[in-house]
Amino acid sequence: MIRTRLTLDRDFVIGELDRRIFGAFVEHLGRCVYTGLYEPGHPDADAQGLRRDVLALTRELGATIVRYPGGNFLSGYRWEDGVGPRAQRPVRLDLAWHSTESNQFGTDEFIAWCRAASVEPMMAVNLGTRGADDARGLIEYCNHPGGTALSDQRRRHGSEAPHGVRSWCLGNEMDAPWQIGQKTAAEYGRLARDTAQLLRRVSPHLQLTACGSSNRDLPTFGAWEYEVLEQCFDDVDLLSVHAYFENPHADTWEFLGNIDRMDMHIREVAAIADAVAARRHSRKRIMLAVDEWNIWYKARHGAHAHQPGWPRTPRLIEEVYNFEDALAAGGALSVLMNNADRVRVACLAQLVNAIGAIRTEPGGPAWRQTIFHPFALAARHARGQVLRPVIDSPTRYGVLHPEMAYLVASATHDPASGRTAIFALNRHLSEAQELQVELRGMDPRQQLIDAHELFHLDMNAANTVHAPDTVAPRPHREVRAGDGGLRARLKPGSWNVFVLQAPSSAMNP
Ligand code: AHR
Repeated sequence: MIRTRLTLDRDFVIGELDRRIFGAFVEHLGRCVYTGLYEPGHPDADAQGLRRDVLALTRELGATIVRYPGGNFLSGYRWEDGVGPRAQRPVRLDLAWHSTESNQFGTDEFIAWCRAASVEPMMAVNLGTRGADDARGLIEYCNHPGGTALSDQRRRHGSEAPHGVRSWCLGNEMDAPWQIGQKTAAEYGRLARDTAQLLRRVSPHLQLTACGSSNRDLPTFGAWEYEVLEQCFDDVDLLSVHAYFENPHADTWEFLGNIDRMDMHIREVAAIADAVAARRHSRKRIMLAVDEWNIWYKARHGAHAHQPGWPRTPRLIEEVYNFEDALAAGGALSVLMNNADRVRVACLAQLVNAIGAIRTEPGGPAWRQTIFHPFALAARHARGQVLRPVIDSPTRYGVLHPEMAYLVASATHDPASGRTAIFALNRHLSEAQELQVELRGMDPRQQLIDAHELFHLDMNAANTVHAPDTVAPRPHREVRAGDGGLRARLKPGSWNVFVLQAPSSAMNP
C-alpha cells in the first residue's frame, strides 16, 4: 500500500471549466457516419435515418460539442456534394481513406443530428484542395439568414432558420505529410489569415481554430506553431493540438506516461503561442483546442487504414479499447481539466466505430467501449471551477516522462451547487493507494453523494458485442468523507471519481 495526499483549496482556482472539453469528433471515415450515426433501415433509426441507439449513447457520454466532417477526409471534401436532394448528390472517391463516399449524409444532416444529440456543432473548412472562397460559401450557406443564393439554397433544403454554427476549424493537420494539400507553415498561416478575415465578414462572431502540428513528434513541431501564429495571430482564437497515445511495447507503465506527455505538449504549445504574443507586444492569449485526442495504435496501419479497391463504408481503424486504455483516457481527462486556463475545446477522436467510444454493428446493437466510461463520468460530474490539485505522491521513472507520480488527479468545485468532484487515477499497477484528500476553504461537513471506480484485473479486458459490460464502473466501497476531507483506498491500476457536497447546499442541485 502506498500513501498519497491531495490538497484542494476553494480559492486556488486554475480556471472556469469550459464544458466544451467534453467534445467528440465525427469524420467521414469507415463506419463513423454510415452505420454509425446514420443507417436508414436500421430497426432503431428515426425517420431521417439517424440511429436512436447511438443518439442515446452520445447523450449518455455527455459530449458537448462535436467536430465534423474531418479529419483527413476534410482536405479533399466539397461541401456542396453533401447538400440538397439525396438522389442528386454525387458519389465521389474519398482520397484520404481510399473509400467511396455516397454523400448521403452532409452538412444539413449533421446539424439535424447535433440538434437531436443536444451537442454544439464544430465545423471545419477544407483548406487542402480548396480555399477561402469555398469556405466563405459554406459559412454563408450555414449562417446567413436568407436572401442570398446560398442561404436561400439552405432554406429550400429544409432549414429555414440559419444553422448558427459558431466554432470553425481552418483546415485539418495542414503540416502533415499525409494530408491532401499539405502546406508549409508560412503558406498555411497566410491562408488561415485570409480565410479567417473573409469568414468574419460574413459572420463576425465566429470562433476560429488554426491548425497546430498534427503531432508532437514531427520535426516541424514548435516551429510550425510559431510561424503559423506569426501569420494569423490577430485573426484566430484557438490553435489545435492533436495527441494520440500508443503502447507499442505492451508496457502499461510506459503507456500511462502518455498522460504526462500530453500535459507537457499542451503547456509547450501555450508557451509558443505566448512567445508570439510577446514578440508582438500583445496581451491577447491564443487558447487551445485539443480537437483530436485518444488512444490509437492497435488498428492504425495496413488494412486497418486502407483496404483494396474503393469500398463503401469499410471497417477502418476500428480500435477495440481495453481496460488500460480506459485508465489512460481517465488520466487524459484530468490533464484537460488541469489546463483549464488554456484549453477551451477538446474532442475525443472519435465518437463511433473509427477509434470510437461507441461501437455499432450494421443492423445490430450499439455498445460502450471501455474509454466511454471515464469520459461519461467526468462529463457528468465536472462542473464549475477547476481547482489546482496539490499532489504528494511517490513517483517512478518512465521513458516518456522521467518522473511519473502514481497519483494523477483533478478536481472541480461548482459554487452554484456546492459540489466538489475529484477524479483520481492510481497508476501503481501492483499496490493499492491510501488517498487522503484535504478540502480547504470549504464547509467541513462534506458528504459523499457519489463514488465510482473503474477497475479490472485484466488490463486487456475489453467490451464486445457479446460482452458489452466487461469493463464498467462500479460503486466505490472503500471511501469515507469527513473532517473536511476524504479518505479512499484506490485499487492498483484503477480510475476513481468522488463527488462531495456540504449539507447546506444539498437542496441546491
Ligand atoms: O482521427 C483519425 C485521423 O487522425 C484524422 O483523420 C486526422 O486528422 C488524424 O491524423
